[in-house]
Formats: sequence, C-alpha cells, structure tokens
Amino acid sequence: MSALATLRFVPLSEGLIDEILVIENATHSAPWSRRSFQNELEHKYGVFLVALVEGKVIGYGGTWVLVDEAHVTNVVVSPDFRGQGIGRKLMNEMLVKAREKGAVCATLELRKSNEVALKLYESMGFVQATVRKAYYPDNQEDALVMMLDDLIGWTP
Ligand SMILES: CC(C)(COP(=O)(O)OP(=O)(O)OC[C@H]1O[C@@H](n2cnc3c(N)ncnc32)[C@H](O)[C@@H]1OP(=O)(O)O)[C@@H](O)C(=O)NCCC(=O)NCCS
Repeated sequence: MSALATLRFVPLSEGLIDEILVIENATHSAPWSRRSFQNELEHKYGVFLVALVEGKVIGYGGTWVLVDEAHVTNVVVSPDFRGQGIGRKLMNEMLVKAREKGAVCATLELRKSNEVALKLYESMGFVQATVRKAYYPDNQEDALVMMLDDLIGWTP
C-alpha cells in the first residue's frame, strides 16, 4: 500500500503544532508563529485542517468564515508531498467545511509570483478580483485577491 493511501484530514489540535511549525518555517518568508496556530484552535469561525500521511503532518490549511465569506488564511503542503494532488484535496475539504458553516463565497490572496498556487486556485474556479499593491511587507510584492463567487453551486 502506498503511503498516500493513508492520507486523512483532521482538525487542528495542539499536539500537531510542533510538526506544523517545521513545515511553516521552511515554507514562508514571514511564517506564522506558534501563537497564530494556537489562535486557530480557539477561533469560533475558523476551519483549520491538517493533512496526515502515516500519522505525520504533511500539510495544513485554514479559512475564517466571516459572516457568509470563507477567507482562506493559509495553505501549505510539505515540499516532499507537493504535486500529488494533496493541495487540491485539502482546499476542497476546507471549502466544503466552510460551506457547512454558512459560507456562500470564498476569497484569498496570494503573492503575484506564486504560479503554482495561482494555477490551483484558478482550476478550482477562483477568479482574480483585484490587486493589492506592495501588500507583502517582506519584499513589497503585490497580492492578487481572488474570489470564488458561488460556493453554493461549486462542486469540489
Ligand atoms: C500551493 C500548494 C499548497 C499546492 O499543493 P500541491 O499538493 O503541490 O498541489 P496539487 O498537487 O494538489 O496540485 C494542484 C494544482 O496546482 C497546480 N500545480 C501543482 N504543482 C505545480 C507545478 N509544479 N507547476 C505548475 N502548477 C502546479 C496544478 O494546477 C495542479 O493541478 P493539476 O495537478 O490538476 O494540474 C503547494 O505548492 C505549497 O504548499 N506551496 C507553498 C505554500 C504556498 O504557496 N501556499 C499558497 C499560499 S497562497
């Protein structure tokens, strides 16, 4: 049986945060802190999922459901596991859960240079809504703001 056959998605829990931080620190130039992940545990309107393979953290992602809008706050797949469909499955799970919590649309932002994420989001039905100039403080990169208008009619 391939390791990927053991893929499952679980809600964030305190005991998973150490493993998440290793991936987070290796991924983002401005990584979330331990406190940021702990805040997700208590977030009343949050959906935060962790992808496990053979019981080990290989990805994670979250949304905040703000009134009727799911805002994607973070999505990461560990480098060794990228390009195998896990990011797409994770996003699908997150949006389905956000819809169950009342979201009717979804938004996110990403760095303009992040072509892989852009392709993923476009293929899911997100379209560019606007550009936020020099949004990222570490390198003044622009953010693309994307929107999925009809989460009710959307199928994963
Ligand atoms: C973005 C990310 C979550 C995608 O996860 P992933 O598991 O590699 O993605 P998947 O294998 O599910 O691929 C989904 C789609 O992304 C695109 N994609 C994936 N790898 C790609 C590559 N190397 N080049 C171009 N497009 C790619 C494709 O559209 C792909 O769909 P397809 O396989 O049907 O063609 C992952 O690359 C990642 O963690 N990146 C670093 C963190 C990050 O940038 N997060 C997003 C911040 S907004």
